[in-house]
Amino acid sequence: MKKTVLAVTFALAAFLSTDAGLAARKPSYEGYKKCGGCHKSQKDSWLKTSHGDAFDMLKPKEKAKEKKKAKLDPDKDYTSDEKCVGCHTTGYKRLGGYSESVPENKAQYLINVGCEVCHGPGSLYRKEHSKAGNRYKKTNEKTPRQDIVDLGQDYDYEEACNSCHMNYKGSPWKGAKEPYTPFTPEVDPEYKFNFDKAVRETGKGKAMHEHFKLRNVFEGEPVPKLRDEFQKKAKEPAPAEEETEE
Ligand code: HEC
Ligand code: HEC
Ligand code: HEC
Ligand code: HEC
Repeated sequence: MKKTVLAVTFALAAFLSTDAGLAARKPSYEGYKKCGGCHKSQKDSWLKTSHGDAFDMLKPKEKAKEKKKAKLDPDKDYTSDEKCVGCHTTGYKRLGGYSESVPENKAQYLINVGCEVCHGPGSLYRKEHSKAGNRYKKTNEKTPRQDIVDLGQDYDYEEACNSCHMNYKGSPWKGAKEPYTPFTPEVDPEYKFNFDKAVRETGKGKAMHEHFKLRNVFEGEPVPKLRDEFQKKAKEPAPAEEETEE
């Protein structure tokens, strides 16, 4: 019995020192279930936002009127159309992210515009969240925010939004490249993207999840520029399911 454990340990150590092991230390997408275990309140709120059901928009009959206006076929199933899927899912064709070949039990957490679309691929930084949370609980010691940035967490929210909302032909956003969104300000002025307005609209049917109080386990640069404003009005979160298990 002991021998097997040792053998496995050595095999693992060998694996971690290879290229494959190195690749395993690159951040990958995992889906919203992992985040939701600790951030239950944000998860419950996000599920009700328009990002939380963005994938459904690709199904036949959904938003027929809007599709016609954008010269799309309302009866067509676009759920596996490469020209559409990237902006309606999480981490499309990136490490760990959504693709046609992801099994259903994982895909259900990767369809829609999930946590990691805005916060970055979470396989590495989520573990640091856990460690930092426990450290803070035990010693009150805070963790530099730079540590989680180094593990793939992203704070450039506006750039994330732009990659979908400002991605159309003739867009003032310089990163624009195909496939473009069919819903441009030319189709209807309501599709003109206004970050400062949109990022402040939270809750059911809106773009953003509601905000919940942080203990400020993380500190230092980069301080998210909307943090203070949102935290002032934030509610108490539900207790984390994972954290309380220990
Ligand atoms: C094991 C529990 C756990 C998991 C899993 C987890 N987090 Fe966290 N997260 C925490 C803790 C603890 C904090 C610190 C909260 C505080 O300051 O009160 C935190 C903080 C954050 C913050 C704020 C960081 C800052 O700048 O202050 C964000 C954003 C966040 N988590 C998003 C995510 C996302 C997205 C995922 C999934 C990829 C995730 N978390 C997974 C426990 C977790
Ligand atoms: C570059 C990213 C991108 C691509 C590619 C993309 N979409 Fe979207 N889609 C968006 C964004 C952003 C919105 C939200 C627009 C808004 O409400 O301002 C959206 C909204 C929609 C809506 C809802 C419109 C409404 O008025 O509620 C439908 C339906 C839709 N997309 C279908 C599609 C289909 C079908 C394709 C492929 C032919 C596609 N999308 C490709 C980004 C994209
Ligand atoms: C991966 C692509 C993607 C990213 C990144 C993204 N969105 Fe969206 N957004 C969409 C899609 C697709 C929809 C349409 C969903 C639907 O109609 O159900 C949408 C819908 C919206 C809407 C329309 C809500 C409504 O009234 O129906 C707003 C506003 C919005 N997003 C704001 C933002 C903001 C702010 C950010 C960044 C913090 C952002 N989005 C990031 C793809 C994206
Ligand atoms: C469309 C972009 C977007 C998506 C999707 C998104 N977030 Fe956020 N999130 C933000 C922004 C913007 C803030 C406010 C800036 C900040 O505090 O860092 C934020 C703040 C947070 C915070 C800090 C505390 C709070 O409530 O404000 C946590 C924790 C968090 N998000 C977790 C999640 C989790 C978990 C998911 C998925 C279930 C998720 N987020 C989905 C953009 C997003």
